Amino acid sequence: MTDPGHLKVPKGLAGISITDTRISKSAADGTLIYRGYPISEIAANAGFEETAYLILHGSLPSRNQLESFIAGLRERRNVPSTIIEMMRELGDEAHPIDVVRTAASALGSVDEEVSLVGRQMSLESKMSFLAANCHRVPRGERVRGPRGGLGFSDSLLHMLTRREASDYERWAFERVLILYMEHDLNASSFTVRVVASTLADPYAAASAGLAALKGPLHGGANEAAMEMLLKVGDPSKASEFLEKAFKDGKKIMGFGHRIYKEFDPRARLCKEYLREIGKRSSDDTLFRLCDAIEREMWERKKIAANLDFYAAPIFYSLGIEVPLYTPIFAASRIFGWMAHYNEQIEENKLIRPDSTYLGRSDLKYVPIGKR
Ligand code: COA
Repeated sequence: MTDPGHLKVPKGLAGISITDTRISKSAADGTLIYRGYPISEIAANAGFEETAYLILHGSLPSRNQLESFIAGLRERRNVPSTIIEMMRELGDEAHPIDVVRTAASALGSVDEEVSLVGRQMSLESKMSFLAANCHRVPRGERVRGPRGGLGFSDSLLHMLTRREASDYERWAFERVLILYMEHDLNASSFTVRVVASTLADPYAAASAGLAALKGPLHGGANEAAMEMLLKVGDPSKASEFLEKAFKDGKKIMGFGHRIYKEFDPRARLCKEYLREIGKRSSDDTLFRLCDAIEREMWERKKIAANLDFYAAPIFYSLGIEVPLYTPIFAASRIFGWMAHYNEQIEENKLIRPDSTYLGRSDLKYVPIGKR
């Protein structure tokens, strides 16, 4: 049964453009553009909130615009106690990203914000608290709130670790968050657009985005990559580990990308941050281990490292617990998701594709006792 005008597209929509966008663009040659700016420009110069404003509004903010954006986020950062209690109720077996998703969804019922902008800012602001507390609170540990006066990135890092990070570590963490913020039509942003296209509210869209982020082929890859690095342990074991993984037909987490085939520009930047962190701490084992795996993967498979492969060891070096890596990704990507939400509803058309039916169409119903 094929409908006239029915267009068949490749599996996974690979290589298919399903919408116009002005937010960001990644390309096979390793370029990534945020609202007109090459990612290297932004990563070298911009702050987290500046970049978030750029992604959401399309241009870099003036000083006044930036101050009022920061104030808007800050005044919405307190998470209602009902949400915290609910997180606690989920118990210590709860997966952190499930906790964040459940909390973001429930926030839709209790948030007092009424305007669309207010609701989006509330989600953007509260997501960092949810990320920092999604592992602690269900385990019965004390809530860690944001420290007054700190910017978004410093505040998140402080909630995550409570340790005094060096200036370079804080700078590198902010860069990683910036690199996680937006990435055109990745699986979770596409999911957010599908939900937005039904005109559901931002909480529903964000919960759907969080659901898409959980799997190891998308957001969950940073945690899987770190677990792998810890398992390999030493650069001298890289070759043997990969040999066995290839023999067992396993995918190497933190490698490969639908768009980038030569290199992921975000991974290149993060590799340099990791190198520097290793140098400054006089322990470059993680850097050498990553480098050894990356070289071997390229030599043997021509598959490049992606952002998750180098973001994970940076988080680890900063003392952040592994189950928090995907929630941290979410705390940054929420800004990209909201930009996609807005772009979708501005020129909305319900996203409702077609399918090719391969089943039969001539069956007759047989009552249950006679089948
Ligand atoms: N390890 C080993 N082989 C890999 C691989 C990896 N990480 N990524 C891709 N490949 C291989 C596939 O096995 C496949 O080989 P085949 O043609 O012999 O079957 C080929 O490369 C194409 O991979 P495919 O999974 O079809 O590409 P895709 O564009 O659909 O997938 C990813 C992209 C990201 C899902 C994929 O590279 C992957 O699963 N990576 C690991 C998870 C990850 O790091 N995700 C974060 C992405 S930012």
